[in-house]
Amino acid sequence: MGSMDYDIGKKPRPDQHHQQQQQRRSRAVVVLLFLTNAASILVFSGAGAALHAHVGRRYPAAVHAWGSSKLLRELNVTGLALAASHAEVVDLSNRLTAANKQLEAILGGGSAAKRDMEAAREEQRQAAAANGGLWRRERDLPAGGELRWAVGPHRRPGAGGEVMFPAVGQACHRHRGDLERYMNYTAGGECPSDEAFAQRLMLKGCEPLPRRRCRPRTPAGYVEPAPLPASLWAIPPDTSVVWDAYTCKNYSCLVNRGKAKGGSYDCKDCFDLRGREKDRWMRRAGNNDDDDDREKNSLDYTIDGVLATFPKGTARIGLDIGGGTGTFAARMRERGVTVVTTSMNFDGPFCGFIASRGLVAMHLSVAARLPFPDGALDLVHSMHVLSGWIPDAVLELALFDVFRVLRPGGVFWLDHFFGLGAQLDATYVPMFERIGFEKLRWNAGRKLDRGVEMDEWYISALLRKPRR
Ligand SMILES: *[C@@H]1O[C@H](CO)[C@@H](O)[C@H](O)[C@H]1NC(C)=O
Ligand SMILES: *[C@@H]1O[C@H](CO)[C@@H](O)[C@H](O)[C@H]1NC(C)=O
Ligand SMILES: *[C@@H]1O[C@H](CO)[C@@H](O)[C@H](O)[C@H]1NC(C)=O
Repeated sequence: MGSMDYDIGKKPRPDQHHQQQQQRRSRAVVVLLFLTNAASILVFSGAGAALHAHVGRRYPAAVHAWGSSKLLRELNVTGLALAASHAEVVDLSNRLTAANKQLEAILGGGSAAKRDMEAAREEQRQAAAANGGLWRRERDLPAGGELRWAVGPHRRPGAGGEVMFPAVGQACHRHRGDLERYMNYTAGGECPSDEAFAQRLMLKGCEPLPRRRCRPRTPAGYVEPAPLPASLWAIPPDTSVVWDAYTCKNYSCLVNRGKAKGGSYDCKDCFDLRGREKDRWMRRAGNNDDDDDREKNSLDYTIDGVLATFPKGTARIGLDIGGGTGTFAARMRERGVTVVTTSMNFDGPFCGFIASRGLVAMHLSVAARLPFPDGALDLVHSMHVLSGWIPDAVLELALFDVFRVLRPGGVFWLDHFFGLGAQLDATYVPMFERIGFEKLRWNAGRKLDRGVEMDEWYISALLRKPRR
């Protein structure tokens, strides 16, 4: 990715501009449809976020046209397309290979992508020129609306009280129509059942979402959760979740979805706690000495093997980025380590499931800064999610953020990172070196599920933040 300086001189002529807008608009719908699909098949958890954010940047809702009826229509069309795409996810997800190729095309550049990048820069330049953002003036916000309340500014009480701005994601300004829809609810009443819509807004970079003055619906027939430690491996009652946002309407549907052949869902078999999920990161039965050797030469590290790299008892708190249904945290909890799991709800109540297991869930995309102080964590783990599908610049920011939240001596377990062989040496290895980790363990192996000719590789690594 190139530098992000603005190309001020390159404003298109009006006729060109109009044409480009038209093209961009139709591509936007296609890409949004595709992305909803790609996010569900390619990546799990926050993985989709950066992607949406990235591509969202390439298809800007032209800032200067805000308020025009044309734009409202455009937003309307996009909103309807998004709603429709939810239903189409199941259908589209069969086209995994095609989608992957498209994704490569998008990430790999091409002249269309370059033009869109220029348009995105122009949009950023204009937003910056607005000096203070798009909600600087009160009249930019619908009068008396919840959005004005949520965006502020509000004066703190007392003489000379400072002005406070509630935190609203910077990219929200690109999706004003969606945001107005999100904030269109009855204050003090029940929140609209719009979880999927809200998550799409997050994935487009509007993260964190503004807070709302409403109460989410309590599921009918709610019962107390199972007590620990049984809750770690129990399928929660169906009445622990509101199912409106998902194709499945109960947990047996999600468990069976993992067992069925075909269909590409995120973390497809993760809800089946008696299936493959049960054995993840566990030492395979057999001779222990052999296991040590095997682990050293394998991409599949075990939790016990990794904990053994710490002085006893000093791995205490950690984070699993894009942790699916929370099994990594469950295994860690069994070993006295507290792990917070970030996850997205891609056509399944991943966060609710983690919470029902008695584990801490965080609904957070990979585009977001980790909400931890510097040097706080002993361990960070990420399987599949932080990988080569993420634009290089975003990936590097995410990896530096992992470095930031680890304490000196803390360990980042990069679990099955994947990327193209041609880029391993050219891009990823230098990137990891720039970040400044010490390599405790490093294994590379071919990723073959899409064929050897794809030249895809996995890397698993244990990377330690230096003590000084
Ligand atoms: C949005 O689409 C709906 C359904 O097609 C239509 O009824 C409505 O008038 C549209 N709104 C705008 C602002 O175009
Ligand atoms: C808000 O929602 C109501 C009910 O769904 C709808 O009738 C109204 O048009 C919406 N207003 C805006 C500004 O979107
Ligand atoms: C769960 O949902 C599926 C369809 O999604 C339905 O066929 C099945 O009967 C449901 N099971 C229970 C126990 O409610």
